[in-house]
Amino acid sequence: MTEHWTPASWRGKPAKHIPSDYPDAAALSQVETTLRRMPPLVFAGEARRLKSLLGDVAAGKAFLLQGGDCAESFKEFHADNIRDTFRLLLQMAVVLTFAGGRPVVKVGRMAGQFGKPRSSPVEVIDGVELPSYRGDNINGMEFTPEARIPDPQRLLQAYHQSSATLNLLRAFAGGGYADLYNIHRWTLGFVNDSPQGARYREIADKISDALTFMSAIGVAPENQREVQSVEFFTSHEGLLLGYEEAMTRVDSTSGEWYDTSAHLLWIGERTRQLDGAHVEFFRGIRNPIGVKVGPTLEADELLRLIEVLNPKDEAGRITLYGRFGSDKIAARLPGLLRATKASGRNVVWATDPMHGNTLTANNGYKTRPFDRILSEVKSFVEVCVAEGVHPGGVHLEMTGQNVTECLGGARSVSEGDLADRYHTHCDPRLNGEQALELAFLVAEKLKEDRVDISQRAAV
Ligand code: PEP
Ligand code: CO
Repeated sequence: MTEHWTPASWRGKPAKHIPSDYPDAAALSQVETTLRRMPPLVFAGEARRLKSLLGDVAAGKAFLLQGGDCAESFKEFHADNIRDTFRLLLQMAVVLTFAGGRPVVKVGRMAGQFGKPRSSPVEVIDGVELPSYRGDNINGMEFTPEARIPDPQRLLQAYHQSSATLNLLRAFAGGGYADLYNIHRWTLGFVNDSPQGARYREIADKISDALTFMSAIGVAPENQREVQSVEFFTSHEGLLLGYEEAMTRVDSTSGEWYDTSAHLLWIGERTRQLDGAHVEFFRGIRNPIGVKVGPTLEADELLRLIEVLNPKDEAGRITLYGRFGSDKIAARLPGLLRATKASGRNVVWATDPMHGNTLTANNGYKTRPFDRILSEVKSFVEVCVAEGVHPGGVHLEMTGQNVTECLGGARSVSEGDLADRYHTHCDPRLNGEQALELAFLVAEKLKEDRVDISQRAAV
């Protein structure tokens, strides 16, 4: 892996989950050429800023909250959907900051999360077999032979949608919407009259009181940048390397390569082979990056991945997302935590409690029991605390929409309810109420952890 790196050097390595069946290869290269001329979506300085915030997470001083759709789609592209997921993330961050007593780094799984690795290359319905749907930036979800043909023009549409999404997110983050004085207005309508809504209002009241108090003593919080706006970052799985290559540019201030399609990119569970194309591409970009860590990854291979992807041991460069499943985490995570701790390497350990807890309901819907998601998060914090590693964050598939995709939660979604509002283009997402409930649980666990640590320190 010491060979010369270029944004295109991945092309010489085995690449999984990248479509090779575009009917017109010339049209694909033409689109990639067009993308190379498009403005970057993010600036390298912002990616460096996120890396430094993730360095604080690695040092145990902050917490990462990352979430959004499993797959963004052209059909669900709407300002209301973007706003609702954004404000739900803000609410969750308030809950986590208030209880955890640490800053929360906010990262959307948004503005570029389109392409999906699929467990099967084909889908069969009533005896008819077609290529699988692979994300709106590749082919269409409709079950017809035409829709399932990869179309390179979709990459351009995904770029433009990402650009418009990011523009709105930047406007919300800096333009007044995220001002802490609006804290009561972030609640989603359907969450308002739920137990989670009431718990949130209690915290929001306390924060409002604190702001009023500070004003009264002359601190003028309304003029503080930290009160008026939030820092918000974007991320997606860096799956389609042709697109990522086209978006990778030399940063004029540092002379280094950055993938400007998002602030943070991660390598999926199915594409993290040491000798594969994805690891090759990722080792050369300077963005903060993530790696999904599933139940089959052994400690020695994880350490080799860290060595290849972060040879200089930069703080905040690598976030590891454990995604084991609630029944496997207790057996798999401790050994990996011990290995990274013993190596002395700088990493953020976070949990993705979604991807190891997927099942098919009796009525055929792909779903996730909320209990199992909560259980994996609880185990994650407990195992981290037991091993003396900072439980650094959560990575969630969630939406501000009132969907019925995951089973359970305070207003128990049943198998029969799944059909009501099942809109996801890929995996089942937490709805607003479930996501807020999860944030309260994480906050409680982090608080216990904090009390535990301070008590141990006092002994
Ligand atoms: C995902 O994050 O949507 C995903 C496919 O996850 P994983 O790579 O962990 O299976
Ligand atoms: Co998913």
